[in-house]
Amino acid sequence: MRKLFKDIARVVSMDEGDVPKRGGDLSKIGLRDGVDILIENGVIREIFPSGRYGASDVDAVFSAEGLTALPGLVDSHTHSVFFGSRVDEFYERTRGKTYLEILESGGGILSTVKSVRNASYNDIEAFSSGLMDSFIENGTTTVEIKSGYGLTEKDEIKMLEVISNLSKKGTVDTVPTFLGAHALPDEYKNKKDAYVDLVAEKMIPQISQNRLAKYCDVFCEKGAFSVSDARKIAESAVGNGLRMKFHSEQFTRSGTTDLAVEFGASSVDHCIEMNEQDIEKLSKTDTVMILLPGSELVLNQNKFAPARKAIEGNCVVALATDFNPGSCPIQSLWLIGSLAVLKMAMSFEEVLNSITVNAAYSAGIQNRAGMLKEGLQADIIFVEAPYLNELFYFVGSNPVKIVVKNGKVIRSVL
Ligand code: NIG
Ligand code: FE
Repeated sequence: MRKLFKDIARVVSMDEGDVPKRGGDLSKIGLRDGVDILIENGVIREIFPSGRYGASDVDAVFSAEGLTALPGLVDSHTHSVFFGSRVDEFYERTRGKTYLEILESGGGILSTVKSVRNASYNDIEAFSSGLMDSFIENGTTTVEIKSGYGLTEKDEIKMLEVISNLSKKGTVDTVPTFLGAHALPDEYKNKKDAYVDLVAEKMIPQISQNRLAKYCDVFCEKGAFSVSDARKIAESAVGNGLRMKFHSEQFTRSGTTDLAVEFGASSVDHCIEMNEQDIEKLSKTDTVMILLPGSELVLNQNKFAPARKAIEGNCVVALATDFNPGSCPIQSLWLIGSLAVLKMAMSFEEVLNSITVNAAYSAGIQNRAGMLKEGLQADIIFVEAPYLNELFYFVGSNPVKIVVKNGKVIRSVL
């Protein structure tokens, strides 16, 4: 099956520069005018000067007149399989309660844990499937999703199975991450070591054997898990073939960076409280700093990750939503991009690289997603953006008109 996308105003291929992108390469976006895209069996076959092929050479022709083609966006850090709502705590926080206080009193993450434990596999899948539709509407075609609301062997596996199965529906691709160390479940209160042992010695080997996750993550934070807990988990994860990610330096500085470097982590995420030494150490690695300004906005932190220092220090950076029912009910990477511009002084080119190619790199899928390039999966979005730098200027708007997933048009609002 050969399909031709023609009349495209411009293609932003994101494939200019080395992958992962850092420093000056983050300003390169691979802008091309006057080209068409040929897709064959779900894969990008050719990007070539308009007019080389006509209707008689292909099985179907689509006109994208006046629109800009970009790679389908990659959301590299989410908690988007869950059940229930935490709307009450959303309002409670506006009246002075903090995120960590709510967690310490048994709410927050633990309230979603209750809902997930009480819900059936089918309920969770149906609920999360609706959430995937909103990602597609916003042009996000690949989503990294963490478990972490089950916190028992059975419930974590239930979540990871939902995450894998969401990929089979032909809309978004999912990348599964095991986050057993997300919060200490009630039944392990005052027995944290026993819970860490359960995660490291029982859950990780089983999840890895059944190929239910590609990555393992730990929430390193006061009130959650310490660096020494994280070390035990990382040793088991890496020994069992899972790469590490760390929720790191979100509210307080824990010193997780050294551990991330030691274990060759795929990413460190949040990074608000990182200092210059942390940035310097990361600059010598391929570990991606995934910045999540949406949770800073929702939690009213008034402090954002040191993006400029990270970029100027030559670190690999990506941006993600951190979508979850608590700290960040935001699914739009466009809004995240606007926050990155407004609150972290990132340029629109840096933002585009951070939600496409570098995000794909952080999820280990740079060979199939994140760029428009021959041989990659045909995940393409067509956006309305007469001036490219306006993509993040209309804060809160959604420029996506057509979404193509694996070569198939799965959404069009023309
Ligand atoms: O990245 N900080 C820990 N985990 C998530 C929040 C999850 C939740 O509140 O349900 C985060 O912000
Ligand atoms: Fe998170």
